[in-house]
Amino acid sequence: MGGGFSKEREISLITAKSVLKALKNKKYKAVVAEPDGSLLNKIKSFRPNVVFNALHGRFGEDGYVQAILETSKVKYTHSGVMASYIAMDKEASKKIFIKNKITTPKYIKYIFGNYNKINKKKIIKIKKKLKFPVVIKPINEGSSVDVYICNEKNFSKNLKKLFHYKHILIEEFIGGREIQVAIMGKKKLGTIELVPKRKFYDYEAKYNSKAKTKHLIPVSISKKDLNKVENIALKAHKLIGCRGITRSDFKFFNGKFYLLEVNTQPGMTSLSLVPEIAAHKGISFIKLIEWMIKDASINR
Ligand SMILES: Nc1ncnc2c1ncn2[C@@H]1O[C@H](COP(=O)(O)OP(=O)(O)O)[C@@H](O)[C@H]1O
Ligand SMILES: [Mg+2]
Repeated sequence: MGGGFSKEREISLITAKSVLKALKNKKYKAVVAEPDGSLLNKIKSFRPNVVFNALHGRFGEDGYVQAILETSKVKYTHSGVMASYIAMDKEASKKIFIKNKITTPKYIKYIFGNYNKINKKKIIKIKKKLKFPVVIKPINEGSSVDVYICNEKNFSKNLKKLFHYKHILIEEFIGGREIQVAIMGKKKLGTIELVPKRKFYDYEAKYNSKAKTKHLIPVSISKKDLNKVENIALKAHKLIGCRGITRSDFKFFNGKFYLLEVNTQPGMTSLSLVPEIAAHKGISFIKLIEWMIKDASINR
């Protein structure tokens, strides 16, 4: 299953193509299905043993399509309905992190009402609680879509760009390093550091090789810190109730790891981060995909 209707459609199509190619090389019978009105008919006619979910973003990563697969009783990969929903909702997952003493950037939920009323009161509150710079982001998008780092001067201008969302998160800005951890089943798979040449790890830095983001494995941190960040990722994965593969995004600043989010449908192109982490552990792309297919089930 690939494509979909989210802003990450293009990335999902690349993930789907990579997975399809790897499976076909191994003589699996596979097709790519769009999660549209024809999905149920396709399931009926193709009768798959497993649906490999290569979708990203809304309707693919947030529990909706998982619910359709549950009711169709077809085995599928990655997390189930509830875990997908929670992980996709950055506010819901942050509440779980905070309750369980996992450090995450401080935040304010911002509900768009009458735009003219934004300015003064809200800015005073933000200044008090978060201090500038701040990061504004949609609650349930991915791939850094509509994520902006703002100072006091350009805050209102950037906020306007997110006006089409009903609500967003405003977070304190955490400097430092960009570290991500992959979890496979109930085990830590490994960790990678990203060093973007751009202002931050934005859409271009993630997907455009011309942006020249450096990928570092092994990450040069102490064994103790590595263990610490991997334990936090595993704890978050379990707390949310995730299954299969997840990838957690952290900022590492002043000796502290800040968990930004848990991705339940991380990119799976042959050049994505989880396959890169797996390769470093001696697990090839096809081995990773085959593990995911074996791990697939319903009642997730
Ligand atoms: N609070 C923050 N402080 C500093 N950088 C951040 C913060 N939140 C997000 N970012 C930057 O934006 C990127 C995307 O944010 P993230 O919360 O992971 O959303 P997405 O789901 O779009 O990946 C991060 O990888 C990081 O580079
Ligand atoms: Mg992220």
